Amino acid sequence: PAGVSPTGPGPERLLVTAGPTHEPIDDVRYISNRSSGRLGIALCDQAVRRGWNATLLLGPSAVAPADSLVTVRRFRTTADLRALLGAELGLCDVLIMAAAVADYRPVPASGKLRRTARKLVLELEPTPDLLAECSARRRPDQVLVGFALEPEDGLEESAHRKLAAKGCDLIVANPLETLESEHIRAVLIAPDGSVRGAPLPVSKAEFAGILLDEVARLRALKHARVEAPAGHAP
Ligand code: CTP
Repeated sequence: PAGVSPTGPGPERLLVTAGPTHEPIDDVRYISNRSSGRLGIALCDQAVRRGWNATLLLGPSAVAPADSLVTVRRFRTTADLRALLGAELGLCDVLIMAAAVADYRPVPASGKLRRTARKLVLELEPTPDLLAECSARRRPDQVLVGFALEPEDGLEESAHRKLAAKGCDLIVANPLETLESEHIRAVLIAPDGSVRGAPLPVSKAEFAGILLDEVARLRALKHARVEAPAGHAP
């Protein structure tokens, strides 16, 4: 029936995006960011340990998962990631969008831009919001988790705004210092306004465990709702 996972009962199928994007300026240069992809990798490693199926859509990151049971598909640009999500979203039960996707991209020049004595002005166009797109076309039983990279000041308010704007089930709000760090000090924000999480920094592996526990809880709640006959929702 509509709304039920197409392959029925079985191990949870986790889809994680991680790492930065590269948006080409020309055939030689690109615009990127400092995301390492490590948290997404930790999430997949933890998921496999729990007996889940894990697929990682990984950007141009130097690190890769330790566990060979993780299926890895690589992307470079926002457009590549969008195409991969188009193919993979319907096959997962849970999507965790940990990738640091570009917000703007140049229209790439072909060949190599040459140096001149004049200023070079790059024009950037907005990229599509992939998380919002996934949210618009997901099944009701799927759990969607977004990330919000925020300055410490006003972190929770901005994260609440992003949660609503992107229509996901959970937002992981990260202070900016998390970038490139071995540790994470994040809070989990749910649509009912509840805020959980460790205020103290924990390893990315430990945080991955905390996040997967929360995801499993949300999945169970959704399952109960989708399975319950109309009028008997818990
Ligand atoms: N994201 C996305 N597509 C984009 C940009 C971001 O799917 N083009 C996702 C990220 O993977 C992350 C979430 O949206 O899960 C929030 O990303 P973030 O950069 O914190 O927020 P933005 O939407 O870029 O908003 P702002 O620039 O105001 O921080």
